[in-house]
Amino acid sequence: MRNPLAVTRGLEPTRFLHSFPLVAFLIAALSLPASAAKKIIIDTDPGTDDALAIMLALNSPELDVRAITVVPGNVNAETGLDNALRLVSLAGRCDIPVAPGAQHPLFQKLITAGFWHGSNGLGNVQLPSSKCKVDPTFGPDLIIRLIHASPHEITLVPVGPLTNIALAVEKDPSIVALVKEVVIMGGSINGGNVNASAEANIFNDPEAAQVVFQAGWNSLVMSGLEVGNKAVFTPKHLDQLAKTHGPVNDFIYSVLKYLQTLTQQFGGTGVQMYDPSAVAIAIDATLVKVQPMHIDVETRGEFTRGETVGNRQGYNEHNTLHGDHYEIEGVDKVTPNTKVCVDVDAERFLQLFISRIQGK
Ligand code: BDR
Ligand code: CA
Repeated sequence: MRNPLAVTRGLEPTRFLHSFPLVAFLIAALSLPASAAKKIIIDTDPGTDDALAIMLALNSPELDVRAITVVPGNVNAETGLDNALRLVSLAGRCDIPVAPGAQHPLFQKLITAGFWHGSNGLGNVQLPSSKCKVDPTFGPDLIIRLIHASPHEITLVPVGPLTNIALAVEKDPSIVALVKEVVIMGGSINGGNVNASAEANIFNDPEAAQVVFQAGWNSLVMSGLEVGNKAVFTPKHLDQLAKTHGPVNDFIYSVLKYLQTLTQQFGGTGVQMYDPSAVAIAIDATLVKVQPMHIDVETRGEFTRGETVGNRQGYNEHNTLHGDHYEIEGVDKVTPNTKVCVDVDAERFLQLFISRIQGK
């Protein structure tokens, strides 16, 4: 495509004046990145890697962050809201609504994660108080309102427990058909990170997760442990961020340094980039390889509560009672409800992240 600016550069002064409406139009078109950008809502429990995800989103021209809604998870609801406000303030983005959401999971007690995320949730890195004000709208209501305001244009990016999204769906099921896509950070089809079977975001509210996975979205992408465990931010990557400076750059460096030290204590080689993976996929879906499958969330298993159970074969056997026993009489097709990310171009993802943070 031709560069419209190149057109104006060749104009003589008088012709330039006559062409003013055209020039004004071209300038306006060039300064419209937000309308061309993908509209997203981030639902988050900030959280160290949530902070990485938010900063990636706020520094990526491909994305237009319409709101940040806060869910309890890594930290309680109050600390999460305070952290989200500090993050948008650091990024100089008080224009983005930051709204409080649920105060606890649907049916269980909250499990906070200061053990991993530091006592303030941000790796004990202190951020200045926020200059931004809270949007008093209840998060699920804000999600509903924004989806109706931009039908078929909003991508939901939940990177915490799925409580807020489930509440929004339960209150107004009509939003499901109006959402363009949902990109979840959560789940796993190869074992968990809180125990043998469950990933933390799903484990923190399994009933909410089951509501969300069964809702019937146009497109639901699950970026789970298969992605985060492969996309590891190593000391070599940290060195890249050490070379540049800026308030966001230096904050992210400190958070990653904290996480780096923590993972080394547990024998890890680097930091698993969980939440930024969902944002990166919203930016560039070619970073991951997906496999469609039906996901159910286990809510009752003694050892498996919170597991995302993926049907890889696409059918279930169909059994019928014959006297005192069942007989397999065939198979029932199972329709996929999720695009499960089974692989990631890790280095390309990590370099995308670094490039968006460097010098900011
Ligand atoms: C998920 O759990 C949380 O602790 C992280 O923020 C991430 O969303 C990874 O399992
Ligand atoms: Ca999170």
